Amino acid sequence: MCGIVGYTGGQQAISVVLEGLRRLEYRGYDSAGVAVVADGALASLKRAGKLANLEKALDETPLASATTGLGHTRWATHGPPTNRNAHPHLDQAGRVAVIHNGIIENFARLRAELEADGVAFVSDTDTEVVAHMLASEVAAGSGLADAMRAVCRRLAGAFTLVAVHADAPDRVVAARRNSPLVVGVGDGENFLASDVSAFIAHTREALEIDDDHVVEITPDTVVVTDTDGAQVPVRGYHVDWDASAAEKDGYDYFMLKEIAEQPKAVANTLLGRIGTGGKLSLDQMRLSDEELREVEKVVVIACGTAYHAGLVAKYAIEHWTRIPCEVELASEFRYRDPVVGRRTLVIAISQSGETMDTLMALRYARQQGARVLAICNTNGSTIPRESDAVLYTYAGPEVAVASTKAFLTQLIACYLVGLYLGQVRGTKWGDEIQAVVRDLSDLPSKVDQVLETMEPVRALARELSTATSVLFVGRHVGFPVALEGALKLKELAYMHAEGFAAAELKHGPIALIEDGVPVVVVVPSPRGRSVLHDKIVSNIQEIRARGARTIVIAEEGDDAVEPYADHIVRVPACPTLLQPVVATVPLQVFACEMASARGFDVDQPRNLAKSVTVE
Ligand code: F6R
Repeated sequence: MCGIVGYTGGQQAISVVLEGLRRLEYRGYDSAGVAVVADGALASLKRAGKLANLEKALDETPLASATTGLGHTRWATHGPPTNRNAHPHLDQAGRVAVIHNGIIENFARLRAELEADGVAFVSDTDTEVVAHMLASEVAAGSGLADAMRAVCRRLAGAFTLVAVHADAPDRVVAARRNSPLVVGVGDGENFLASDVSAFIAHTREALEIDDDHVVEITPDTVVVTDTDGAQVPVRGYHVDWDASAAEKDGYDYFMLKEIAEQPKAVANTLLGRIGTGGKLSLDQMRLSDEELREVEKVVVIACGTAYHAGLVAKYAIEHWTRIPCEVELASEFRYRDPVVGRRTLVIAISQSGETMDTLMALRYARQQGARVLAICNTNGSTIPRESDAVLYTYAGPEVAVASTKAFLTQLIACYLVGLYLGQVRGTKWGDEIQAVVRDLSDLPSKVDQVLETMEPVRALARELSTATSVLFVGRHVGFPVALEGALKLKELAYMHAEGFAAAELKHGPIALIEDGVPVVVVVPSPRGRSVLHDKIVSNIQEIRARGARTIVIAEEGDDAVEPYADHIVRVPACPTLLQPVVATVPLQVFACEMASARGFDVDQPRNLAKSVTVE
């Protein structure tokens, strides 16, 4: 949510900052702006709308040449996405420029105080208070970093702030509290950003910045302090992917590229975790076997697509380990006084590792004494850093706002955790684990197979692109797949879509079905628990009898569904629990094609941002 870049070094700041913003635009695209420090003054430009609007304005009115600057791409919280609410925000004298991600909760009081002192505000944002406060600290004799520390002490809420001052031509200062910030360490240049993709073309060496720390970069130094000004140690890490991983690579959309990358992403998440004889070893599983044996309950917390991965995890974990497993939307978790304690294992699933709802839920769980295992795709992000253990999904950078490869790899990570618990606690025999591991190892090629047969799904999406509503139903692990299919369609094609547990239809939603309504049915394998398969075949008949147009996702060789399917999408046979990995792919392709047929921006759907860093 909001992309932030700061730069100081030997290059033209504006090009480095714009390049960073292009890579961060997925975080917010309501408006964008830049500021540079040139010849003892600030030059700034900002525009409502996508980054392209700002780039066009900069072509028409270039800013002065400068080697220090910052830039922002916004997901609006306070005030509509207009030119004047776009960041950076400047103080009255135009000497300080500040950009912000997050929400300053006490801004109304601070604004009233500043207005009482005669400060005239020019925007509706919470951020502008910071520009005026920094200016007044600097006017009182503080350096920019001291000023930032003093201001942060007075702020409540969540924020990443980055500021430059006209009198400090080679200095950028930033602070964070509950909002992402990383430093990129270059040779004679340094970077600040919401995530590493902003500077990956220049350096792969990054530093983590902790909450309530202030960082000051010059071309040759990085100094990190706490809010009292005491220098603190920092942890560095090497980013293991390069700029090409964050490019479209010839695809029309990042989403298409990321869907196509799924076989590799699934294989990477398994890599190195399966030892000889199928024995699992999970790197960074910092919880001891004894701690895992003590676990009496598992609670999965996550949001959106990651929550759907958690719903699948419940079936696998309970089946393999017999430990009760609850799955909860992270945003609801801490507000209902949940029963968690020392013997609870909380699994926090997050692609970005920065989702505020999930972060707050995990902090609450730890306060209650629970142990937290993060399943995360982003190295060095806050959620894994604050967890007791972590299992990284190696999906590579996911740029499209709609999650695809991250979801499939989250599923794999959940299976690995379930099997690992079964291994440590002895609820699964070695050969049983080995058999599932073999099935997991077959998944990359099965996903590949699905991808090769997607043309009819694309054609069907185009044909149905004028539909007003699409329903998705499934049973068992097919239910979360149905929810995920509906979410993808809502967020990309702006279409009414809902997912249901198939048997629930009869308890109300079946009233939605009228002639021609497309209903996607995720059919479990007939080779699994046959009762499940038989039941869903009855459900298909019920909806078809009421006029629905049925689109059936069924495994190869499942002939029983043919008489009731208007369209069949075949997926390779998999054990029931693993079927979501193959069954979700056609739904991703369907939503992507539907959005493109309806003329919408697949990678940047309206009102959304990739990483939701506010509650
Ligand atoms: C939907 C989607 C979102 C995210 C959710 C959680 O396609 O991407 O629903 O899954 O915002 O994000 P992370 O996984 O970063 O915590």
